Amino acid sequence: MLATLMALPALAGGHGHKREMKKGILLVAFGTSVPRAQVSFKNIEKKVKTAYPDIPVRWAYTSKIIRDKLAKSGQHLDSPETALAKMMDEGFTHVAVQSLHTIAGEEFHDLQRNVHAFMGMAGGFDNIQVGNPLLSVQKDLERVVAAMIKNIPKERKKSEAVVLMGHGTPHPANAFYAAMMFHFQQQDPNIFVGTVEGTPEIGDIKSMLLAKKIQKAYLIPFMSVAGDHAMNDMAGEEDDSWKSILSAAGIPCIPILKGTAEYDDIVDIWVDHLSDALSRF
Ligand code: CO
Repeated sequence: MLATLMALPALAGGHGHKREMKKGILLVAFGTSVPRAQVSFKNIEKKVKTAYPDIPVRWAYTSKIIRDKLAKSGQHLDSPETALAKMMDEGFTHVAVQSLHTIAGEEFHDLQRNVHAFMGMAGGFDNIQVGNPLLSVQKDLERVVAAMIKNIPKERKKSEAVVLMGHGTPHPANAFYAAMMFHFQQQDPNIFVGTVEGTPEIGDIKSMLLAKKIQKAYLIPFMSVAGDHAMNDMAGEEDDSWKSILSAAGIPCIPILKGTAEYDDIVDIWVDHLSDALSRF
């Protein structure tokens, strides 16, 4: 008897109508306005659809600036809140919201708060779960470090530096970047991690490279997409790009314009976090 009851579909909010479980996945990224950088998101979507062929996938961008920019060129991207409202109207009962952010900074916490707000709505979802960003627990750090090391260009010599460019944030989760550098250097002392908008800064990294008498550096974005920051702040021709700053200090640079979501073993970590979210229904 109990088993029969448990097998019944969930009840909708009003009038006791039974409704079938309808699962959905919402992928949430900061977003990018650089068309070429979309290859990162396409790769994630392909892997998610391969892992969960029967669950519809929707997208949302957390950055309003990016959404507005895309809207001007006729591309419409939803915010997570709009995307969830639409999914609610479409009758989804269970939604896994997967954060494609790198660390659990401001954007991730805002997302979590707003997802929680959707949980309290009458006639809304039966269950929404949020999947963690790329780096959330110690195991993620170790997996990310191993995956990034595997993807370093083969021609790089051990005496040459690899400098990863993270985004960085004033949020305390910024500490992940320095923690990651520690783990990298346990395995390969010439791998460095800096950030554009947090710490360590490029000045810190430059001093470390000079102290080690590094002759050459590979610059690699540590962001899901190789977008504006990678193209301009990392590899641009302006005086204040990382390439220019290090070159001026006598360290020629080879920029690699590939986002982390283009590396399959990094995407696997996000997909595992999504699986974890789906398993919590
Ligand atoms: Co930025």
